[in-house]
This record gives sequence, structure tokens and C-alpha cells, in this order.
Amino acid sequence: MPEIPRRDFLKSLAWTTFGATVAGGAVPLGAILGPAPPAGSLGPPRKPIGLETEIAEGSMRREVLQGKPVIVIRDAKGIRAFSSRCTHLGCLVRWDGDSGEIRCPCHGGRFDTNGKVLGGPPPSELESIPVSIQDGDVWIGD
Ligand code: FES
Repeated sequence: MPEIPRRDFLKSLAWTTFGATVAGGAVPLGAILGPAPPAGSLGPPRKPIGLETEIAEGSMRREVLQGKPVIVIRDAKGIRAFSSRCTHLGCLVRWDGDSGEIRCPCHGGRFDTNGKVLGGPPPSELESIPVSIQDGDVWIGD
């Protein structure tokens, strides 16, 4: 049997004890990892995405708002934004300009341009993201 140097043995024992203490719940993980990041640390709750004139009718663009994927579409009714996460199992949806629908490639989920479910397994509509236009700039978020 190979001999373990005393120093390595003590290090191993310390880490094992530490791990067991954390796993056993004696020390909250938050105490080790530090405080949770502030709510706004993923970015501002609202952001500009470009000039209104740059977003053509029939186009789609992808954005990220506070770490969440967002789909922005513009059709004859205007500019709207939704969470890109399908409400079924979370795949990223995309705009299908030919059909005028937002579609999920994973299981055939279909949504209208208001985010309402048209067909497939999604149980609920897409999360709507506020859109506002100020001085020609398009903003998403609150
Ligand atoms: S994840 Fe979109 S339809 Fe299943």
C-alpha cells in the first residue's frame, strides 16, 4: 500500500470535513459563495435596440435583456418583443415571415404575433416584453 505523506493526508481530511459540513447543511452555501448579486447586475431593465427606421417590417431580431433571450418582430401592426423561450420546454422560438407566425423548432409550437398560442404543445403564451419608442429610438424592457 502506498504511503501518503502526512501533509497530503491532512489536506485531504480538511477538504473532506469541509465538504461534509457544507453537504450536511451546517454551513449555508450562501455563506461560502458570498451574497447574491444585486438584481440589476445582469444589465439594465430597459435598453435601446436601435432606430425605429432601422427595424424593417417583416423582420426579426434577437436581443438579450437582463440575461434573457428576447425576440423582437416588426409586422404591419408594429414592433413587439417577447421572451424567446418557448413556454413548452424552453427552446428558442423564431419568427417565420412567410406564415406570419412565431414558431418553435423543437415540437412545432406556434404563436401569433401577439404571443398567443396557435397550436402545438405550448401551455401558455409567450412572455411579452414592453416596447417603447422615444425620439425615434426603440427600447425594450420596463
Ligand atoms: S419547446 Fe417549444 S414546442 Fe416544445
